[in-house]
Amino acid sequence: MKRDIKALISEMTLEEKAGLCSGKDTWRLKAVERLGIPSVMVSDGPHGLRKQGGASDHLGLNDSIKAICFPAACAAAASFDEELLEKLGDMLGRECRAEDVAVLLGPAMNIKRSPLCGRNFEYFSEDPYLTGKLAGAQIRGIQKHDVGACAKHFAANNQEYRRMTCSSEVDEKTLREIYLRAFEIVVREAKPWSVMSSYNKINGTYAGESHDLLTKTLRGEWGFDGFVVSDWGAVNDRVLSAEAGLDLEMPYYDGSGDRKLAEAVLSGRLDEKVLDKAVERILKIVFRFYDSACEKENFDREKHHAAAVQAAKKCAVLMKNNGVLPLGRGEEIAYIGPFAKVPRYQGGGSSHINAYRVKGALDMAQGNNLIYADGFGANGEALSKIEVDKAVQKAKNARAAVIFAGLPDSYESEGYDRRHMKLPSSQNELIEKIAAVQPNTVVVLHIGSPVEMPWADDVAAILNMYLGGEGVGEAADALLYGDAEPVGRLPESFPERLEDTPCYLDFPGDGERSVYSEGTYVGYRYYDARNMKVLFPFGHGLSYTEFEFSDMKISASNPFCVTLTVTNTGARMGTETVQIYVSAPDEKCKRLVGFKKICLDVGESKMVRIDLDDRAYEQFSGKLGRWYCRGGAFTVHAGRSSRDIRLTEKIVLKANGVIPLAVDQNTTIAELFEHPATRPTVEKMLAGFRAAVSGGSAERRSEQEAVMLREMALNAPLRALPTFKLITTQQVNALIGQMNVLLDEYNKKGE
Ligand code: BGC
Repeated sequence: MKRDIKALISEMTLEEKAGLCSGKDTWRLKAVERLGIPSVMVSDGPHGLRKQGGASDHLGLNDSIKAICFPAACAAAASFDEELLEKLGDMLGRECRAEDVAVLLGPAMNIKRSPLCGRNFEYFSEDPYLTGKLAGAQIRGIQKHDVGACAKHFAANNQEYRRMTCSSEVDEKTLREIYLRAFEIVVREAKPWSVMSSYNKINGTYAGESHDLLTKTLRGEWGFDGFVVSDWGAVNDRVLSAEAGLDLEMPYYDGSGDRKLAEAVLSGRLDEKVLDKAVERILKIVFRFYDSACEKENFDREKHHAAAVQAAKKCAVLMKNNGVLPLGRGEEIAYIGPFAKVPRYQGGGSSHINAYRVKGALDMAQGNNLIYADGFGANGEALSKIEVDKAVQKAKNARAAVIFAGLPDSYESEGYDRRHMKLPSSQNELIEKIAAVQPNTVVVLHIGSPVEMPWADDVAAILNMYLGGEGVGEAADALLYGDAEPVGRLPESFPERLEDTPCYLDFPGDGERSVYSEGTYVGYRYYDARNMKVLFPFGHGLSYTEFEFSDMKISASNPFCVTLTVTNTGARMGTETVQIYVSAPDEKCKRLVGFKKICLDVGESKMVRIDLDDRAYEQFSGKLGRWYCRGGAFTVHAGRSSRDIRLTEKIVLKANGVIPLAVDQNTTIAELFEHPATRPTVEKMLAGFRAAVSGGSAERRSEQEAVMLREMALNAPLRALPTFKLITTQQVNALIGQMNVLLDEYNKKGE
């Protein structure tokens, strides 16, 4: 059914229009019954449906309907699997349709700047490319059902500390290349129906009041055509936010936002067209959902639960294994720790799902020969010495011990950050005691973000289940006994200590400002640039088999692609994740630009082809106002992780942009060198200087001196040349004029 939304808006009163720009309650939008505009519902998200019927809140306090709790994004990201994310999105979309929910408030896509951010478990990765690709796949899956996704929290919302007032101080290059990049990918590639603006300020302006962000970049540059909704309670000044491009304020509280909009129109402060546009964007989505031909199918909860188990298997990362895993069914194994009974499978706050069914690994006892002891308390508390000794004794006497460790609920949640990166000491101490008496000690982790592991060298295996959703216990059982292959890869670095992290000195800031002084060096980019040891690197994950890479080729013709052959050289079938990284000439680090999963039988080889987009070679320039390739020899790396690079190749690329230059007396010789229009003239001038200082013969100067002279000259501004007595002030002025003419001609040619 084709609606004439503009005609509908022309029939609305000012109050009705202003009213549509905020909710009816916590989760619903207002209806305008006389015009046939229905009230639709939005719900959290992102890894399950948190639809509230009774008392509502956005902090995860009150109950919501029972729903399938899929792996949280921390876990889903470890799958490195777009197909899986699309499938998860597809199930979420189906559940939304069944429950009459028009927009699911997710995915949450903020970058893990520090391992301490309280909401990291809801976010995908420290890497924007991985985040964007996986979130995009999830969005496509959700929207297949004509249910909207909501990419959140836009943008640079990387901490919980003072999240509603603090300003993320971040330079433009870093913002574009790291913190906006994933949003750019999803808006361009997956077209989410909505975007949620974040609570925080960016460089002093609230994200929800930033015209640059919400209108110029999001809509103008990336082509976003949905509505922007505020995070719940994020609006600071309703009129400013409307002008910036924020369409919908949520939740409803006392109607003052609507009144302010209407008053601003009446007083002439706000152009009514701005309001009309916001209403149009909201109604477009309302009717896209309402008029959809998608059937309201009832979904099969058992089927979705089974899919949640399958997903949890694909999200687990085998971080270490000396061969103890997989275990044999029937062998006597000691399971230690209360997470074996009731796993920790999701985090706290607005994403908290009322899960359909949760089983612990201990419930999967069929055919297993298990003994059990608590060893520590589920909330991190230490038990009595007798209890601890009992656990150690049981662990010692068995063939192997599996300790189900992890962060207690209160350690990671929306609303506050972690203060350290440690597991409760009760757990660390127990792991060390057991590892000292049982060589086959396996640690299973239930965590939403990295922890320090002082015992990592002492245990035989570490299996990170992350917060794998309601299927995590069943998945752990399958992985431990080898019924499933571990295929996950770390979507974030695990540093050895908190002090090693890139923003250690600046996180979370003084409450007013959080200065992103590490720039683009986030996560593995930083550890690589500094050549630092990490506990487990980005991209790391073991398998029960082995792989080899060979025959890497790069094709520079359109599309850019890398091909290589992967062979399963081990004794079991397995799945490899090929990761492609690129480093630009003179760049201190590399970055992920492509990945692909491939399943191989024993001895099987397959060719993998990974297409790269232009951004693989580009960087953002504020001066140019766009992404560009600066040209030169780029290195392409193919690896099993960011630290296990198997093959590298060089590729020489042409520049596709030149940083604009306007010459004045403070322009340096180096800048003139970098620009193709001025380079020949400045080369000639330098050669002249060399000749002058060497008494007319350049050859008489040693090579060393020539190098020194050149290096010193590069850093000098034009105005300093007369002080070297190489050139007069008059000549400098003439040179400035001449260079600007050359630049003008160059720019005209480029147009
Ligand atoms: C969170 C959002 C969430 C909203 C509604 C806010 O506190 O930041 O992610 O969608 O509440 O529950």
